[in-house]
Amino acid sequence: MQQIIKSTSIANDLAVVLSNTSHDKLFILTDENTELQCYSLISTLPKVEIAKRVVIPANDSNKIIENLTQVWKFLSNNGATRHSLLINLGGGMITDLGGFAAATYKRGIAYINIPTTLLGSVDASVGGKTGINFEGYKNEIGAFYPALHIIISAEFLNTLTQKDILSGYAEMIKHALLDSKKIWNKTINFNFEIIDYNLLNDLVMESVLIKQRIVDKDPYEKNIRKALNLGHTIGHAFESFALDNDRAVPHGYAVAWGLVAELYLSHKLCNFPKETLDLVSQFIQHNYGTFSFNKENYDILYQLMIHDKKNVGDTINFTLLADIGEIRIDQTASRGMIEEALDYLRIER
Ligand code: GLY
Repeated sequence: MQQIIKSTSIANDLAVVLSNTSHDKLFILTDENTELQCYSLISTLPKVEIAKRVVIPANDSNKIIENLTQVWKFLSNNGATRHSLLINLGGGMITDLGGFAAATYKRGIAYINIPTTLLGSVDASVGGKTGINFEGYKNEIGAFYPALHIIISAEFLNTLTQKDILSGYAEMIKHALLDSKKIWNKTINFNFEIIDYNLLNDLVMESVLIKQRIVDKDPYEKNIRKALNLGHTIGHAFESFALDNDRAVPHGYAVAWGLVAELYLSHKLCNFPKETLDLVSQFIQHNYGTFSFNKENYDILYQLMIHDKKNVGDTINFTLLADIGEIRIDQTASRGMIEEALDYLRIER
């Protein structure tokens, strides 16, 4: 039975998990950064000390077949069996690639995710989406294959930059909007000027559990899991547009701006309350700044939305809200309405 563990001592919690999880051999995947900055937090455990380790280069650009092959070879050369256990220690790149290596090696071995970024904790490590980028397309090859355990550790939070925290926080805003006014109020009142790490840690756990509840209802994204795409149809277009113009923005920032535009669509098409839209919009402008683009960019942004892999045919698929917690999946919007939403984000706030 999968467990999501809220940890304040990663070494202690991992020790318990390892003694309760039967396995013949233990393997550890890190990237070059988490090897240096995070591995020491678990390295004193006797089972970890004798585990074989593989280190791959950091960053999403390395979530590629060559590094996946390296992990497969590492497992194979070190005699991993179907009963072996892999620990993925890193951000979304490591948990996605390591999860896919685990999904495919000997048709599937068990793995534990220890996410080391906020974005990884609240999104990538939970829900079983694993995979790699391929031929320039993000997450093009992959499988649904959930981690056996996920250890969410507060110990990494205060090592993160403000930008990393904000990037993960956008997914937490999304989860709060999907869930309830109670969580929403706590989330929108968080103060990034003086970060309260204990409060952040509590909010992270609540956020992870919101995602898990949605995934449990629809693990293969046939239905309500599409709710998790809120903010992402327009957000992904911003992310790709910025990348193509050599001014890459963090995923969470693109999602934050995407959320504002999609809540505008929600207001126009599903009566989402204007005051909540304005509140989100101000919070995001204050903490994330503005995404610079102009009317001449609308066509390319629209084309990027058309090519989103969540669409069926040529219709752009949105998840919208009628209110906080009132989810409307499989919505469409006219090009004119999408342009109005882009106008709102650009000028009318
Ligand atoms: N990141 C969205 C999902 O896991 O479905």
